[in-house]
Amino acid sequence: MTSLWKANITGPTGQLYAEPKPTPGELSFQVDNTSAEYYTSPYYKAHKSQVQPIPPPRPNALPYLHFENFIPAEILAAIHAAGRIAFHAVGDTGAAKVNRSQTAATAIGHEAAVADAMVADVHSGGADGPAFFFHLGDIIYNFGEAQYYYDQFYEPFREYDRPIFAIPGNHDGMVFGQGSSAPQVPTLDAYLANFCAAAPGSSPDSCGLVRSVMTQPGVYFTLDAPFVSIIGLYSNVLDTGGGVISSQGGHFPLTDDQLTFLKYELTRLKPRRQNGERAVLIAVHHPPLSVDAKHGGSTGLAQDIDSCCQAAGLWPDAVLSGHAHLYERFTCRVNGRQVPYIVSGSGGFAATRPLSGLPKAPITIGDHTLELDPIVEFGYLTITTDAETLTVTFKTATAAGVATRDAVTVDLPSGRITTGSSATALKPAPHPGPHPPPHPKRPPHKKR
Ligand SMILES: [Fe+2]
Repeated sequence: MTSLWKANITGPTGQLYAEPKPTPGELSFQVDNTSAEYYTSPYYKAHKSQVQPIPPPRPNALPYLHFENFIPAEILAAIHAAGRIAFHAVGDTGAAKVNRSQTAATAIGHEAAVADAMVADVHSGGADGPAFFFHLGDIIYNFGEAQYYYDQFYEPFREYDRPIFAIPGNHDGMVFGQGSSAPQVPTLDAYLANFCAAAPGSSPDSCGLVRSVMTQPGVYFTLDAPFVSIIGLYSNVLDTGGGVISSQGGHFPLTDDQLTFLKYELTRLKPRRQNGERAVLIAVHHPPLSVDAKHGGSTGLAQDIDSCCQAAGLWPDAVLSGHAHLYERFTCRVNGRQVPYIVSGSGGFAATRPLSGLPKAPITIGDHTLELDPIVEFGYLTITTDAETLTVTFKTATAAGVATRDAVTVDLPSGRITTGSSATALKPAPHPGPHPPPHPKRPPHKKR
């Protein structure tokens, strides 16, 4: 089997991903997270039920990325030789939830268990080794601040030797301020600096870790990789109000540019999808479907996606979301196809129970079915496709170990689900036991 593993890869334009000599995981935050205080700031209280403006894409940037511009040619060749690609996806990774019932070390451990398991997948190589990580949003809690990028993103993924792409979540775009008329920092300021830079280079927020900033064209974009394209959408900042990608017929003060983008991208990809060259996925932070007790589904968002698919005559092979802090898998029946709608906001921030009183799964409501009882544990997705079939696997990753807990396979030509759930025994965690001592002293953090 061709190994995809090669230590410390460099991208074609000099992008760096993993530390050459990783230091032990941290036990305490470099910058204590006090941003929960901003929930009481005048700007947040006055505007928490309102959407924020969507930053325009970078001028002259194409709406899609070519994966070959991020990975060495030999790894790309190995993916083509294997005839399939694998990648990771999960949302809500940020370790920040510290309170009377959870210490910083516990919060860090939750995110680290997931991140370390993903790193172990990369290191294990093989043809199914993940080629990249597509983050499903809520990278930084609670307000997407630049000063927490080190503790919540760069440090946990410092050994992840692959590109990381990301759509923003509501916490990445949320804003606060001491006055009620304008936020202290514009929405998505740090996200744009770290994920939508004009050129690769070091991050102002990584405290010297080598991972290059990502060069996405904007907060919504498509990643074209071998055998798969992922259309990433930005569903704005509402926490409990659901995802919003458009004006929804004038209901929200937003443009409908994102609908134009989605239709354009589905139309662009349709011939390649119909020729059997690639799977097409949609990733959006807020789940169109969810039975989470706090973060329910988003009817307006689901309708927007459906109407764009209808207009383009192409439906996605799967829809991936985060936001709800658990794992849920639905099947949506549309246009004669079975489309998995998967929620994996289980990256480490919190584990939240589903609605109480739910009957045992499967539960069918209208055109969709909740296929299994939600899994309320930390974990992540691995998606594998050869453009003939698409498999999405959910693994839990905790201090107890790593375990495959669910998997679904779609036959792409027919759009039928061929394989349902399965489970395996626990494997030991990649870095079992308490984390090693914290980093030696780091250079002072640059604040913007
Ligand atoms: Fe969220």
